[in-house]
Amino acid sequence: MKILITGGAGFIGSHVVRLFVNKYPDYQIFNLDNLTYAGNLGSIRDIENQANYHFVKGDITDPDFMQDLFAVHQFSAVIHLAAESHVDRSILNPIEFVKTNVLGTVNLLNVAKNAWKTNPSEDTKRRLFYHISTDEVYGSLGEEGFFVETTPYDPQSPYSASKASSDHFVRAYHNTYKLPVIISNCSNNYGPNQFPEKLIPLFIHNIQNNKPLPVYGKGENVRDWLYVIDHARAIDTIFHQGKIGETYNIGGFNEWKNIDLVKLLCQIMDKKLNRAEGESAKLITYVTDRAGHDHRYAIDATKLSTELAWQPSLQFEEGLEKTVDWYLANEKWLSYVTSGEYQKYYELQYANR
Ligand code: NAD
Ligand code: DAU
Repeated sequence: MKILITGGAGFIGSHVVRLFVNKYPDYQIFNLDNLTYAGNLGSIRDIENQANYHFVKGDITDPDFMQDLFAVHQFSAVIHLAAESHVDRSILNPIEFVKTNVLGTVNLLNVAKNAWKTNPSEDTKRRLFYHISTDEVYGSLGEEGFFVETTPYDPQSPYSASKASSDHFVRAYHNTYKLPVIISNCSNNYGPNQFPEKLIPLFIHNIQNNKPLPVYGKGENVRDWLYVIDHARAIDTIFHQGKIGETYNIGGFNEWKNIDLVKLLCQIMDKKLNRAEGESAKLITYVTDRAGHDHRYAIDATKLSTELAWQPSLQFEEGLEKTVDWYLANEKWLSYVTSGEYQKYYELQYANR
């Protein structure tokens, strides 16, 4: 089976690619990534020489390129993660999010539809377009309640509006053209290889370098955190056992107020850096709130655990400590991703392949 994974040089995609390459030596895994600021081949260097792994530099929004790639490789399945993913960037530049997340997804759907001729009954192989989405499409919760798979969409940021739109197109292609699709909507991920613009890696970096920790508003917003490798495991489970046409929520029932999470992170960092207790927390600085900041996300992942027997493997405190250890041990990765050095590495290593 040849599987196209888009966005495999990004945070979550790199963990999904690694899991599939190592766990399924019989599958050929094609990682298609445009290597934007968020894509780094350094995150998957450990698997780049494996026989079943192939990297393709390309843009999901380019119809001719994607059509040619499908024609050459005849992919059986797509796991689509490529996206613009940072809410703050979407507030500054919404158009970029429409291009990548909406047009890019529709382009991929179209190419897959044309390549597969959309008649699954004539097809002996399993075909699947698996779209990776976010809990942010459901909007913002008050103090009570959870997002379930049937919660009406109510996106509040340009990022979540672009993801919601792409989800709608995925369902429209299933309904109209019978394209075999699955969607999963996951809560906030954390762990190794996340670009240091997101809360946890940014704050680890700032604590280490004695820089202020910019907590938006009063730090009262709530996020539901899942270790990235548990998300990759869920994607593996859904890819192999999920039902065509279904949606699955992914989350670990692990809600944290931002300020409580930041204080826990400061405590862990004090220990790791041999600082006096309370030293890192002095860096906490309350700053102007994010525009339209969603108050609370909380995922109900009961369907995934009851129907497909998936469970998260890590408790948050353990996962956060592992994450801190990883960033402290991988300062080089951080300097690579922030300097763009890996783009240069790509040019040298891959340009002639
Ligand atoms: P990321 O920003 O770390 O990585 C995105 C990847 O997509 C990068 O490697 C980038 O180079 C690539 N990319 C961007 N535009 C492209 C294009 N036009 N063509 C080809 N490749 C392109 O993102 P992430 O945090 O790993 O998120 C991956 C997916 O999971 C996204 O769809 C996101 O919406 C979703 N998601 C993320 C989270 C989270 O907490 N990070 C939670 C739920 C869902
Ligand atoms: O819920 C899933 C989503 O989680 C994904 O779809 C997105 O791709 C991913 O970026 C993430 O979105 P958030 O906006 O929740 O993540 P972020 O790390 O940017 O922020 C987490 C919380 O921390 C949020 O309430 C904003 C706050 N924050 C963030 C930053 C970067 C701060 O207070 N200060 C900061 O500097």
